[in-house]
Amino acid sequence: MAALKDVSFDIPENQICGFIGPNGAGKTTLFSLITGAVRPSAGQVHFRGKDVTGMSSAALVKRGVARTHQVVRPFKAMSVLENVQVAVHYGRHAVTRTAVAREHAMEALKLVGLDRKANVLASAISLGEQKRLEVARALATAPELLLLDEICGGLTGSETGAMMELLHRIREGGTTIMYVEHDMKAIMAVCDRITVLNFGQKLAEGKPEEVQNDASVIEAYLGKSTFRDKKRG
Ligand SMILES: Nc1ncnc2c1ncn2[C@@H]1O[C@H](COP(=O)(O)OP(=O)(O)OP(=O)(O)O)[C@@H](O)[C@H]1O
Ligand SMILES: [Mg+2]
Repeated sequence: MAALKDVSFDIPENQICGFIGPNGAGKTTLFSLITGAVRPSAGQVHFRGKDVTGMSSAALVKRGVARTHQVVRPFKAMSVLENVQVAVHYGRHAVTRTAVAREHAMEALKLVGLDRKANVLASAISLGEQKRLEVARALATAPELLLLDEICGGLTGSETGAMMELLHRIREGGTTIMYVEHDMKAIMAVCDRITVLNFGQKLAEGKPEEVQNDASVIEAYLGKSTFRDKKRG
């Protein structure tokens, strides 16, 4: 069985594009295909008019495509700051000077509110902080397209609010965002448009309010409290 089938879409520049769908719908797989972690058996990925299908993740980062991982992947034996510094070195601008990389890394950590943990080992911070570290590492590569896969897990309501503000700021800085999150309230509030996946296929797409009122989407989420909560509140 294919994890994704006939899924086709465009991502307009400088928008926040949400991707939602039940567990196993194919959201993370989609991100893996776009960022070169998995090669598609059919189909193409185009970025800025160029066919980038099958390009390595490292090469895509240099072109400006960066992601976070749903299952966090820090270098555990390194400090929080060192983790981000590595990303600066291997990022789009391929910064070589250590002092400059440190400076950029600290800026990224400040953006996600982790600067006070800069010198702590990455293995010693909470899961919520590790999620934010993923965001800082991706940001530190200076992406033009940033793919965020469930970054709000373990965050409190106000921390999630701060993260949504950060997404707006990142977008204002000229970065396009693809965003996967199960928190419907957050995703409906922050996204310009939303694509719904179900069983590896595109179920619907449009503005948040359009998607929310789509009969097939409501059906796919039937029994899931997330949507009903959102509709109440
Ligand atoms: N490389 C792969 N080859 C084939 N099937 C895969 C591959 N990776 C994941 N799958 C399967 O594809 C489906 C989609 O998985 P995926 O992790 O993309 O879902 P998801 O929408 O991100 O779910 P969740 O919301 O739980 O994170 C699942 O059934 C999964 O088991
Ligand atoms: Mg996933």
